[in-house]
Amino acid sequence: MPNLAAARAETDGLFDLLRPEALYERPIPERHRMVFYLGHLEAFDWNLIGRFALDLPAFHLSFDRLFAFGIDPPPDQLPADQPADWPAVEEVRVYNRRVRETIDAVLSDVPEQLLHVAVEHRLMHAETFAYIMHQLDYSNKTVSLTANRDPQGAGGPLPSPPMLPIPAGIARLGRTLREGFGWDNEFPSVSVNVPEFAVAQHKVTNGEYLAFVREGAAPPFFWAWHGGEWFYRGMWEEVPLPFDCPVYVTHDEAAAYARWRGMRLATEAEWHRAACGSEPSENLDFRFWDPIPVNEGAAGPRQLIGNGWEWTSTAFAPFPGFKPFPFYQSYSEPFFDGQHYVLKGASPRTAACFLRSSFRNWFRPSYPYIYATFRLVTS
Ligand SMILES: [Fe+2]
Repeated sequence: MPNLAAARAETDGLFDLLRPEALYERPIPERHRMVFYLGHLEAFDWNLIGRFALDLPAFHLSFDRLFAFGIDPPPDQLPADQPADWPAVEEVRVYNRRVRETIDAVLSDVPEQLLHVAVEHRLMHAETFAYIMHQLDYSNKTVSLTANRDPQGAGGPLPSPPMLPIPAGIARLGRTLREGFGWDNEFPSVSVNVPEFAVAQHKVTNGEYLAFVREGAAPPFFWAWHGGEWFYRGMWEEVPLPFDCPVYVTHDEAAAYARWRGMRLATEAEWHRAACGSEPSENLDFRFWDPIPVNEGAAGPRQLIGNGWEWTSTAFAPFPGFKPFPFYQSYSEPFFDGQHYVLKGASPRTAACFLRSSFRNWFRPSYPYIYATFRLVTS
C-alpha cells in the first residue's frame, strides 16, 4: 500500500528549509507563490479523497478552491497576485491539520488507486517545491550547508563520450493495468519499432556546453558569471562550474546544441531502448540536491535514470486508447497541446516511485527551472 505518512514527512521537511516569510515569494514567475504548495498538498488530498471518493462534508470551501490546482501559463500570461492576496500561514496550517485528521480517520475506506494518486501527487510536488525553492535567494534558506553538501567531482573537463550502438528493436512504452498503478497518460501499453541508432554514453556536461557558449550560445539559466569565471548556482551555494557534471538546460537549448554538434535528441521510444536494463544513478530519490559527475556508473549508457531528467524530442501526446482519470481530468489532457515535450528518467529530487519505466514527465520547451539534462543520439 502507498505510504501517505512517509510522503507527508518528506514534504513537511521541505517547508522547514525556508524562512517563514519566504513562503510569500514567487521565485518562478510562471508558478504560484510558495505558500500555495503548503495548502495545495492537503487541499488536493481533501478534494480527491474527502470530497470525491468519500463525499464528506466540506468545512472550508474557499481553501478547497484556492489551493486546488497549480498553473502553467504561456510565457505572456503571468500571474499578477500579491502576497496579501494569500491567507496567513497559520490559517493554512489549521486547514491542513483538519484535513489530515479527517482523512486519517477514514484512511482504510480510501480506494487504493486514489491513495496512490495522493501519495505520488505529493511526491511530485516534493520535486516541484525543490526546484522552485532552488531559485530563492540563499538568504531565505535556513539549512546548514555542510549537512547538505553533495559529493563533488574533480570538476575537470571530460572527453566527449563514446557513442554506443543500440540495435533495432521494439520499445514498449506505457503499461497495462495488471502491472500496477500508473497515471492516466501511462496507459495503455504501446509497442514501437525503433531502427538502430547510437547513444552517447553520458549526458552532455557543463564543460561540453561551455564550448557552445563560447561560440555565442546563451549561457544556461543555472549558470552565473562573476569576475571572469562561470559558476553553477546550486541549491545551497554557487560553486565554480563543475565541468564534469551534466548541464541543466531547456529543451530548446538542448536541441540547438545537438544541431550544432550534428546530432539530435532521442525520441521517447529511443530513450526506452537505450534505458532498457540500464542501472539507475545513485543521484535520485532525494539523496542529493545537485548533480554529480556524469561518469559515475558501469559500462553501457550511464545515468539514463537519475542525475537529471532527460529531454526527448517527442511532444507529449496520448498513447492510442488513452482515457483521462475521471477524478483528475486535468492531469494530462490539457498538456497534449504540442507545446510540451516528454522527459524521461529522474532528477536528484525525484522520488523512487517514479523510476518505473512507463512514467512520463513533460514541460514547455523554454521552461528553464527544472532539473533537466540531455544526451546526444545519432541515426
Ligand atoms: Fe498539484
